[in-house]
Amino acid sequence: MKLERSFVMIKPDGVKRGLIGEIINRFERKGYIIKDLKMMTIPETLAEKHYQEHQQKPFFNELIQYITSGPVVAMILEGENCISGVRTIVGSTDPTKAAPGTIRADYATNIRYNVIHASDSPESAQREIDLFFK
Ligand code: TYD
Ligand code: MG
Repeated sequence: MKLERSFVMIKPDGVKRGLIGEIINRFERKGYIIKDLKMMTIPETLAEKHYQEHQQKPFFNELIQYITSGPVVAMILEGENCISGVRTIVGSTDPTKAAPGTIRADYATNIRYNVIHASDSPESAQREIDLFFK
């Protein structure tokens, strides 16, 4: 049994559209435990650190602008194989390619406004948890 923690964040579009309960419900039903949770508006410096791997990408500035545009809900989820399991529930980055039944397939139409973030590896999970919860 590999007990893991993942960092998950409902993005500003998800919060604005009233999807907080719907999204958290999916993770709770699955059996993941919410270890910590908070609503916050992300300062630009934190947003830039969070997305530092994308600094050179053409979409970086707009991504930072969007992720800081309103409150997000940040949380730590814990469970067996939680990191890849959460990514499966979240679906592919591009909602038009995400598998039916995933959060992004069900609630998003646009690759930027894709409702939710989830850590993609044990290293990024640890890094993101430290950034947001320490
Ligand atoms: P990425 O880490 O590739 O996706 P994921 O969120 O699935 O880990 O990209 C981070 C975010 O950047 C993504 O959720 C939305 C935004 N983004 C764009 O706006 N345009 C793009 O072409 C890509 C690839 C991502
Ligand atoms: Mg990513």
